[in-house]
Amino acid sequence: MKIAVVGTGYVGLVTGTCLAETGNQVICVDINEQKVKMMQAGQLPIYEPGLEVLFNRNINESRLLFTTNLAEAIAEAKIIFLALPTPPGGDGSADLSYVLGAAKDIAGLITDYKVIVTKSTVPVGTADKVTAVLKANTTVECAVVSNPEFLREGVAVDDFMKPDRVVVGTMDERARKLMGELYGPYVRQGNPIIFMDERSSELTKYAANSFLATKISFMNEVANLCELVGADVDMVRRGIGSDDRIGKRFLFSGIGYGGSCFPKDVQALEKSAAENKYDFKILNAVMDVNQIQKKVLVEKMRGYYKDGLKGKKFALWGLAFKPDTDDIREAPALYIIEELLKDGATVVAFDPEGMPNVKKLLGDKITYAENRYDALNGADALLIITEWPVFRTPDFDFMKEKLKAPVIFDGRNLYDLERMKEYGFYYNSIGRKV
Ligand code: UGA
Repeated sequence: MKIAVVGTGYVGLVTGTCLAETGNQVICVDINEQKVKMMQAGQLPIYEPGLEVLFNRNINESRLLFTTNLAEAIAEAKIIFLALPTPPGGDGSADLSYVLGAAKDIAGLITDYKVIVTKSTVPVGTADKVTAVLKANTTVECAVVSNPEFLREGVAVDDFMKPDRVVVGTMDERARKLMGELYGPYVRQGNPIIFMDERSSELTKYAANSFLATKISFMNEVANLCELVGADVDMVRRGIGSDDRIGKRFLFSGIGYGGSCFPKDVQALEKSAAENKYDFKILNAVMDVNQIQKKVLVEKMRGYYKDGLKGKKFALWGLAFKPDTDDIREAPALYIIEELLKDGATVVAFDPEGMPNVKKLLGDKITYAENRYDALNGADALLIITEWPVFRTPDFDFMKEKLKAPVIFDGRNLYDLERMKEYGFYYNSIGRKV
């Protein structure tokens, strides 16, 4: 099938590449000339495990092309994916100007039936708005489909190639058929393509992310209570997760959810409820809990250092909002760094992928270490912020030599309590005994 993907951000690029991988002819279009040139030369502008191999293969086999010319991209495409940004506007609701602007441009260019698919996370009612823009600007018949993505950064290729489900929202029969054909190869194992109306599909995306964020905030509150009553959240997690109705995944307490999706989507769903005069109480609580949780590690430190944090030096392992990504958007690390600097401490950080992005944002407000151990030199304590695999089995004896004091504040519960005691560390984690 011939496909165009408008927007080559994270979602667009993964979508385009993975669609080419099953034999479709894909053209990705972006207004950023420099980025397009880079991709044409076979360079990936983002870090995503497993993507590079597919990207290079499909470029080499001429199934994946890049252009800045929208007309050229959509001329032969049957299906046009819109993977454009929908940043939160000033009032917290998603800004649709990119999506609606692209719909208008497309309307001015098409001469035959097209299926226009919104892949970006967009508020309920957006498909209707896109349809209205198309109708106002062309008489050519076209269908609008809502097809939210459920990709996780770090495992996006796998999530695309083997999705738990594909959600397709449209009432246009022709479009349903085409979308079913397009996604067929990805659900061969029997996972469903769930067809529904546009509004239900749009809401599904927000409900999924908000539910997951709720799960995390719930567990973070359980962890906080564990500390007060002398229970261990890891035990509680295993105890409840074995119930199929609850599930083992996404129950890890920590220092709050971050990233470009959960914070934005929970806020947007609450906002959209409020606009419809519905008070979505749980979502307000989820957001409040998350705000508090991002600072929980610093609060622990403030309690530990009776003389305050001023003049102390702290090593941070991890900056990215989660492992296997260089993404630092809404990363708990940024909130923690802000608090530490506010209290007059200095920070030395190490992250396998996240340092360049933090450097761009914070410059020399903190220092950056060459490797995980160098970060520890003379530091008063180590803070574990992101659970990169490389932090899981370090040389604890060597760490003790490097640190000024054997103190670890762990926001991700990486280590066994008993072992840390044996090694002689003061070890303070989340929802477990100190
Ligand atoms: C999330 C969803 O998982 C995807 O399904 C969705 O497509 C995507 O948002 C999106 O809307 O585009 P992502 O933001 O990449 O994906 O990251 P997750 O792996 O879901 O993690 C989100 C945050 O939750 C991270 O800060 C992570 O540390 C935190 N988390 C996750 C926990 O604190 N505990 C857990 O048990 C799981």
